Amino acid sequence: MSKDKLPRHATERQTADISEAQIAVHWPEEDYFSPSNPFIAQANLTDAGIFARFALDKFPECFKEFADLLDWYKYWETTLDTSNPPFWRWFVGGKINACYNCVDRHLATHKNKTAIHFVPEPEDEAPQHLTYQELFVRVNEFAALLRDFCGLKAGDRVTLHMPMVAELPITMLACARLGVIHSQVFSGFSGKACADRVADSESRVLITMDAYHRAGNLLDHKEKADTAVMEAASHGQQVDKVLIWQRYPGKNSSPTKLVEGRDFVINDVLRKFRGQRVEPVQMPAEAPLFLMYTSGTTGRPKGCQHSIGGYLAYVTWTSKFIQDIHPEDVYWCMADIGWITGHSYIVYGPLALAASSVVYEGVPTHPDAGRPWRIAEDLGVNIFHTSPTAIRALRRDGPDEPLKYNHHFKHMTTVGEPIEPEVWKWYYKAVGKGEAAIVDTWWQTETGGFLCSTVPGIHKMKPGSAGPAIPGIHPVIYDDEGKELASGSGKAGNICIRNPWPGGFQTIWKDPERYVRQYYARYCKDPESKDWRDWPYLAGDGAVQAADGYYRILGRIDDVINVAGHRLGTKEIESAALLVPEVVEAAVVPVADPVKGKVPDLYVALKPGLAPSEEIANRVSASVVSEIGAIARPRRVIVVPDMPKTRSGKIMRRVLAAISNHLDPGDVSTLANPEVVEKIRELAK
Ligand code: WTA
Repeated sequence: MSKDKLPRHATERQTADISEAQIAVHWPEEDYFSPSNPFIAQANLTDAGIFARFALDKFPECFKEFADLLDWYKYWETTLDTSNPPFWRWFVGGKINACYNCVDRHLATHKNKTAIHFVPEPEDEAPQHLTYQELFVRVNEFAALLRDFCGLKAGDRVTLHMPMVAELPITMLACARLGVIHSQVFSGFSGKACADRVADSESRVLITMDAYHRAGNLLDHKEKADTAVMEAASHGQQVDKVLIWQRYPGKNSSPTKLVEGRDFVINDVLRKFRGQRVEPVQMPAEAPLFLMYTSGTTGRPKGCQHSIGGYLAYVTWTSKFIQDIHPEDVYWCMADIGWITGHSYIVYGPLALAASSVVYEGVPTHPDAGRPWRIAEDLGVNIFHTSPTAIRALRRDGPDEPLKYNHHFKHMTTVGEPIEPEVWKWYYKAVGKGEAAIVDTWWQTETGGFLCSTVPGIHKMKPGSAGPAIPGIHPVIYDDEGKELASGSGKAGNICIRNPWPGGFQTIWKDPERYVRQYYARYCKDPESKDWRDWPYLAGDGAVQAADGYYRILGRIDDVINVAGHRLGTKEIESAALLVPEVVEAAVVPVADPVKGKVPDLYVALKPGLAPSEEIANRVSASVVSEIGAIARPRRVIVVPDMPKTRSGKIMRRVLAAISNHLDPGDVSTLANPEVVEKIRELAK
């Protein structure tokens, strides 16, 4: 990209005036824990020589080893094409199909093995165990339906708004079989949030489910599809067909009516496709596999576009060597498939390795904090993967529960947020019974798979630290001025990755400029350069590297908050608040929370002359829920007489965050309205 093509504001700072990283708690360095000998004896990777093979001077050819875990119709010619930085193209010339790699290729040796264990929330409902053969049949029939009933073909986009059921991976794999790009929206997002994603991805087809169980309720989900279709139309996107899976086949579980000619019950339509087979479409390696929308620094979520070949190679390799998945393992990642963790490490990675992957409905602590351990014991789960928020909740509600059950994990993963050392130690002792190796994996929607983590058969674990970079990943920490911090300096800075890697997203859907601006412009050494060394990837997190080479992630440096491991944009929440007519200004700040990691406090100022009221605060909260979803509901809505502002009129979120977190806001005398700080402190008590 030439200089004049570099987007405007290319050098604009993306550091928020208050960010998670700034309120991070700095815990002391911890002792190491060693993986057990039985774990090491069976581990897929124990040779520390791997790091030399993945040194920067072996880049990019070292990544062949990743792609060689897959079956290719046609082997690639160029491992990495860097001719148009930073739009990297991996395994160029290769032809591949993701569904074939996750399903068909296992039939010869594993057709009777369980591919997916589906565990319904009601404990009296029997789990379903779908073999690879059954998965093959169901994926083929549904692919035939998508092709012949919906007219979908390679390159088309389809939005999925589905809960955690076996039909979700079936739907994703059916899309992948056809080369159709799926865009799964987390089921907890509102119909409006779904509509934004339908419109941005220009989906003509929306796939949903009538209802699902959560925390003791059977929730109507179909109603969200009606909102999504209506709102998408107001953004100019027509949805022709809504396909509805039934939670209980043959029975309608939603009170929301079907719209004639638009809504179709999949279980009915599928009858016509009984026994049909669809040849997997041989796709170029760099064709997109899916879009995953995530929050960034502006009010609009962005569609991260992931490739077929590079992405699948990356999640397969990391599943095998970082999560140590063997085909005989029963693997359970508790995340929701609506997030990147579920795509990479419930569906694509484990299934590419012919593992048995658990999909469970509900929440970890319902009906009680023993549920996960009952599931693990019943299914013989031996690899377990979850988030610090889930671990904190399970520890709060049932600290002694895990020891009551006869489950045994050889390996456990934590992901999504920093984990406090004492929480880590409970996970290790109580959940892992001191037997399991733990990996704390740091990565992002954009990165497709893990970036930093210990290799469980090689490294010692250090509670509270993600670990060194995985083979092939070369991080660097810069200060705000663009100076590289010495490796192992123990100083906080902005973590970047020096080199491209196959799992990295390809672009932001329909917004390549934003892709460059947000992730590469800040530390780009020369916008004319075709050399990947000049294009470090800015992750958007603060981090510290200790002398032992382990990274500790401090949290986001931008306007993103990780609420219970769910990534939310403060600007998205503020925009929702501003839809309430009385509100003139809104500011969201992250507040440390003992279970959810961070939660949002939402400060709002009203139009002149209006008196604050609980009724307005409630409407603000309701607006956030209807625009985004219940996960974004603010902890508190605080109506203030005025926002603390600089003389140039900028809202000082830093001061609000200090108030919410009971920290010292520092010198406020230079504000335009210093007197308001005390008033806000009173209101926010
Ligand atoms: C945070 C989730 C500390 C980080 C896979 C990142 C973490 C954001 C860790 C991405 C970890 C993820 N330790 N923080 N092990 N893993 N994060 O896109 O702030 O939903 O930028 O991807 O989660 O969230 P996302």
